[in-house]
Amino acid sequence: MRYSLTLAALAAATGVSFAQSAVPAYGQCGGQGYTGSTVCVSGYHCSKNNDYYSQCVAGAGSSGVATTIKTSVVPSSSSTVVTKPPVTTSKVVSTSKVATTTTAAAGSIATTSGTKFIIDGKAGYYAGTNSYWIGFLTNNNDIDLVMQHLASSGLKILRVWGFNDVTTTPTDGTVYYQSFANGEPTINTGANGLQRLDYVVKSAEAHGIKLIINFVNNWTDYGGMAAYFSYAGITSNAQWYNSTKAQAQYQKYIKAVVSRYSSSTAIFAWELANEPRCTGCDLSTLKTWVVNTSKYIKSLDSKHMVTTGEEGFGPIPGDDGSYPYQLSAGGSNFTANCEVPTIDFCTYHLYPESWSVTPTQAWGNQWIKAHAQACTAVGKPCLLEEFGASNNCGIESDWQATALKAAGTGADLFWQYGDTLSYGQTSQDGNTAFYGDALYTCLVTNHIKAIDSL
Ligand SMILES: *[C@@H]1O[C@H](CO)[C@@H](O)[C@H](O)[C@H]1NC(C)=O
Ligand SMILES: *[C@@H]1O[C@H](CO)[C@@H](O)[C@H](O)[C@H]1NC(C)=O
Ligand SMILES: *[C@@H]1O[C@H](CO)[C@@H](O)[C@H](O)[C@H]1NC(C)=O
Ligand SMILES: *[C@@H]1O[C@H](CO)[C@@H](O)[C@H](O)[C@H]1NC(C)=O
Repeated sequence: MRYSLTLAALAAATGVSFAQSAVPAYGQCGGQGYTGSTVCVSGYHCSKNNDYYSQCVAGAGSSGVATTIKTSVVPSSSSTVVTKPPVTTSKVVSTSKVATTTTAAAGSIATTSGTKFIIDGKAGYYAGTNSYWIGFLTNNNDIDLVMQHLASSGLKILRVWGFNDVTTTPTDGTVYYQSFANGEPTINTGANGLQRLDYVVKSAEAHGIKLIINFVNNWTDYGGMAAYFSYAGITSNAQWYNSTKAQAQYQKYIKAVVSRYSSSTAIFAWELANEPRCTGCDLSTLKTWVVNTSKYIKSLDSKHMVTTGEEGFGPIPGDDGSYPYQLSAGGSNFTANCEVPTIDFCTYHLYPESWSVTPTQAWGNQWIKAHAQACTAVGKPCLLEEFGASNNCGIESDWQATALKAAGTGADLFWQYGDTLSYGQTSQDGNTAFYGDALYTCLVTNHIKAIDSL
C-alpha cells in the first residue's frame, strides 16, 4: 500500500471500531487517551497498570469495573508506560521493559527450508503484519507496546519501512532517515534518524519479533525514488533503476542500515523496495536491478535473507489473463525474480479492489494458489506480504485459509496493524485491524489458532 500519514494525522485518527465490543483477554481497556471499550470479555476484568494503561486480565477482579481516565493529555516521552500481562502457563508473555525483564528469547537468524520458513529453529507456517509507521515513532514505550502485543498475539513477522527520505530537512524534530536537501544526500544517524529504527530492532529482539526492513519506496510516500531525482538528474522511476548516481546513493543508504543490524537475530529479511515497478520498461531493467542489489546486500551481510518487496505481477501458471498477470503491470516477471539466486523468498501483494479485478474473494484465492504453485516450482517460499479487502473479515480470512493450505506459501502478513499508543489510536486507513477489535480476532486470533492446530 502507499499510504502516507504524518504523526499529526496518526494522532488525530480516531477508532470507532473499539467502541461497545468487549475487550479480549489482555487487550487494553483504559488509560489516558484511550477511547475504546472498558468492558472485558467474560472471565476477565480491567486492571489498571498506571495512568496510561489498563488491561483485561484473568479473574473477576476487585470490582470488575474498568479504571479509565479519559483525558486528551498525551504523556510526555519521559512518562513511563509499563504494561505487564500476567504470566500464565499457557502463554509466553513479555513486558514492555526491553532487555532487562523480557522472557522472549532473541533466538537465531531466520532462514528457509524448501517452501517453508525456519524461525528460531522451527520450520512452519507463520503469520505477521505490516506497520510502516513504527520506526517514525518518538516514544520508545509505544514501540515496546506494539512488540508486546504482537508477541502475545502469536504474530511473528513485522514488516516496517526502513526508509524515510526527504528533500527538505525538517527542523522541528520530525523523524527522517535520509535527506536530499541542498543537492548532497546525507544519512541521518541522529536521535530523530536511524536511532529510531535502532530502537525498533532492539525491541523486536527483546520480544522475539522478526523484521522485514526495506530501503526505498516506489511511491512518493516518505520520499521514495522521487526523492533521489533532482540529485541524480533524472525524472522517473524507470531512470532511477538505471542511474549510476541514484544507485550509488541507494547502495550507500543500504550499507548504512544493514551494517547497523547485520548480526541481529531480529532481522527476518532485507527488502529491496516497497512495491518496485517499472511499467513501460523492458523486463531487463527491473530484473538487472534485483540481481545487482540483492548481490550487493549479500556482499555486506551473507547471513540474512533478501527479498524484493514486489507485488507479484507477471504471468504464472493458473493465471486468468487479467491485468495483474501481465508483464506490463510492473515491468516484471514474478518467477524470473523469484529464481534469482540471491533472492531467498518471493513476495506478492493482494488488493483486487485497487487493481479493479473481480470478484474480490475468488480472484484473490486464485492469485494465492497461482503464486504458491510458482514458488513451489522454484523451490522457495512465497510470502503473501500485504493484503486487504476494506476490512472485510469474511474475504480476508478466506484468503488466509487458502494461503495456509497452499503448499508453496510460507507466511502471510495482513495490511495493516493498528493500536492505541500514548497519543491515541494509530491510523485507520481502510485496511487496519486494531489490536483487540473484532477484525483482529478474525485475522489474528482465529488465524493463529488455525496455524497452531496444523
Ligand atoms: C511506481 O511505479 C510505477 C511504474 O513505474 C509508476 O507508474 C508509478 O507512478 C510509480 N510511483 C511513483 C510515485 O512514481
Ligand atoms: C537500462 O539500461 C539497460 C542497459 O543499457 C537498457 O537495456 C534498458 O532499456 C534501460 N532501461 C531504461 C528504463 O532506460
Ligand atoms: C550494480 O552494483 C554495483 C556495485 O555493487 C555498482 O557499481 C553498479 O553501478 C550497479 N549497477 C547498476 C546498473 O545499478
Ligand atoms: C518469466 O520467467 C520465467 C522464469 O525464468 C520464464 O520461464 C518465462 O519464459 C518468463 N516469461 C516471459 C514472458 O518472459
